[in-house]
Parts: sequence; C-alpha cells; structure tokens
Amino acid sequence: MLEGKKIILGITGSIAAYKAAYLTRALIKKGAEVQIVMTPSGKEFITPVTLSALTGKPVVSEFFTANDGTWHSHVELGLWADAMLVAPATASTIGKMANGIADNMLITTYLSAKCPVFVAPAMDLDMFAHPSTQHNLERLRSYGNHIIEPATGELASHLEGKGRMEEPDRIVACLENFFSRRQSLAGRKIVITAGPTYEKIDPVRFIGNYSSGKMGFALAADCAARGAEVVLVAGPVSLSTPPSVRRIDVESAAQMYDAATREFSDADAALCCAAVADYAPAAYSEQKLKRTGENLVLTLSPNKDIAAELGRMKRAGQCVAGFALETEHETVNAQEKMQHKNLDFIVLNSLREQGAGFRIDTNKVTIFEQNGNKTEYPMKSKREVAADIVDVLSEYIAPVKK
Ligand code: PMT
Repeated sequence: MLEGKKIILGITGSIAAYKAAYLTRALIKKGAEVQIVMTPSGKEFITPVTLSALTGKPVVSEFFTANDGTWHSHVELGLWADAMLVAPATASTIGKMANGIADNMLITTYLSAKCPVFVAPAMDLDMFAHPSTQHNLERLRSYGNHIIEPATGELASHLEGKGRMEEPDRIVACLENFFSRRQSLAGRKIVITAGPTYEKIDPVRFIGNYSSGKMGFALAADCAARGAEVVLVAGPVSLSTPPSVRRIDVESAAQMYDAATREFSDADAALCCAAVADYAPAAYSEQKLKRTGENLVLTLSPNKDIAAELGRMKRAGQCVAGFALETEHETVNAQEKMQHKNLDFIVLNSLREQGAGFRIDTNKVTIFEQNGNKTEYPMKSKREVAADIVDVLSEYIAPVKK
C-alpha cells in the first residue's frame, strides 16, 4: 500500500524523536520515498545525519541553506507529497498547526500540503490531557487531519499515562490502512442525515432534542475519506463540514425529508443518523404565545418517517441503514425498527450505556443486519464507530468497477 508513496516525515522536539529512525526505516521498507522535515528543536533529539543516511536525502529544516542561500520551497514539498506524517508531534507543534503559526519549515510545509496529514502526538500525560492540547487536536481533526492517538504506558518523566507516541509499526499500519481504504468507496454516492430537527411552535420556541450531529458528521467524514460522494443533510448543529462533503442545512423534519428523499434517488446508500422529531406542532403560531397562567395544550402531528420512506424507495443495489436510539428493550426495538423501515442494517445505541448517545465524543453500538448478523462493538470514539459502520456499509455497496 505504501509502495511508491511520497511521504514527508515531520520530526519535532520530543524524546520520542529517537523512534523516528525506526519509523523512517519501516516506511522505506514498505517502498515509500521519505523526505524528512525537522523543527529546530527536533534536531536536538536526533541528528539529521542519522535520518539523511536512512532516507538518502538531505534533511530539510531551514528555509534556505546558510552557506549558499539555496531556497527550500515548502510549497513544492507540500505539493510533492502523497501524505505528511508529523511524528513525534509535540504540544507546541500541534498548537502551531492548529493556529497557523508558520514560524518554521515544518509548519509552512504543513500549511502548503494538499495531501492527507497524520499527526502522532508525543508528550507527558498532563500536557496531553490539558484542555488546550485537546482543543488544538480537535481543531486539527476538524480540518480533516488524522490524529494517531498516543499509547498509554511509561513516559519519559517516569509517570504512567497516555502520551507515548504510538509505536512505529502501528503508525505505518495506520497509513497503510488509510491508503487501502482511500478509494474503496470511489464512485459511490452516500446520503447521510445528522443532527436534530427543530419543529417550530412560534417565532421563539421549538421542539428539538439533544443531538449534536457528531455521530453523523463522523460518518460523513469517513465516507468522504474513502472517496465517496457524500451529501450530508444536517439539522441545526454547530459543527464544521468535513472536507469534500456537500452539506445541505435544514431545520425541520419536513425539510430533512425533502432533501434526503431528493438526494437518495440517484444515491447508492443512505445512513439515517439524525434524531428526527417524531412529532411537530399541528399549527404554527405567527405571534409569540403569551403566558396565561392556564395549562397550555399543544396539538402535535406525526412527521413523515424519512428512513422508512427511503426503505420504501430503495431499488435493488441501494442500501439504507438507520440508527435506533433506545432506553429500554433495546434489541427487540432495534430489530423491529429495522423490519418496519425496511433497513439493510440498524445501529443500536442505548442511553442506558455510559459513554453512548447524544453529544459526547464516544459511542457504543451493536449492529443488526437483515441477514441475522449481530456485531457488538466496545465503546470507541465516534470517529472509530463511524469507521466500523462504514466497514459494514462497504459490504453492501461494492466499489464501482472501472
Ligand atoms: O448527534 P450526536 O449527539 O452525536 O448523537 C448521535 C445519536 C444518538 C443522535 C445517533 O447515534 C442516533 O442514535 N441517531 C438516531 C436517533 C433516533 O432518532 O433514533 P430513533 O430510534 O428514534 O429512530 C430510528 C431511525 O429512524 C433513525 O435512523 C432515525 O434517523 C430515523 N427516523 C426517525 C424518525 C423520523 N421521522 N424519520 C427518521 O428518519
């Protein structure tokens, strides 16, 4: 998978820089061409001589060579690469990447790079856990970068915790995995619904729910990363659109229904992840409802069921999958929804499970398929859960033959 791939390896000032030599060798063994870019403090931890001996190329670290003024173009480097990997990435470099502080060759190269970027953090446990580091990592993810989570174990400080740079062979496996999946959904169109819907009561009030959109946006990012054309029909959320995703913003269940059914007609699959309001006020009040001191009775009418309609529209070769958000009788309810809505598979998440459901960054799911398969997954980040779900989806929509 890495044969012939051009990879920029960015090395920063961490004790884990010693592992960069193993990493370089492992990448080259897989057939990659590696160009090292180091920050000034990276050179304090491992010498450029070691690295250039491994790659057979001069290490780039400064904007120009001091003795003859040769200019090193970060723009050309950024365009040359098939992937950029920053390993180890210190808290400082992560902060600069997240905020565009272009004061060294590595950051300018990162800002110029058009290729996928992987970041393998390495730092002490408290630095890694600090809200500013986590915020910067979240920002990098929102720009479409791939974070290779650090491992847990003994750190350079002799403390135990999460912060050790992932082992070189696992970093290489991440890149291989990425390139093998990259085009696996090329030529496929996938419609994804995400977030809540708001059903207006009057100009200032609505019926809504706690969905943040995180699960649906993670699905969209994963499908797009595998080369699919992704249409994300999003309810009101405050998330940025994943790279290469076409987003249609809607507010109500009726608007989501219109957009999803329109886009599904020429799609290969739909993933219905939105928490759609089942009911909407039967009448909208043009004026703000006044407080009277009496009970207020709102009449609600059922909304159309988007997933069920897509299940009804489905032609041979199209796949429709949904979610079941349950609070009791999880398995029975999920399977009943899968049958009733004519879904190919359904992803169960239960609000009784800690770490699953609305707003948080993790989820714990079980996938039920029409063919009787049932797969239970451990609690994972929503990004990882999305990858598991899209792995299952990929079984239903084979890649387009060229
Ligand atoms: O957005 P997050 O904060 O990350 O939270 C993610 C999530 C918990 C919202 C998500 O993982 C999830 O469970 N989404 C489905 C929520 C839901 O409405 O479940 P349900 O069991 O009520 O609906 C079953 C299925 O029918 C769902 O696929 C739903 O999208 C779909 N549906 C429901 C009603 C309706 N009118 N139209 C629909 O398409």
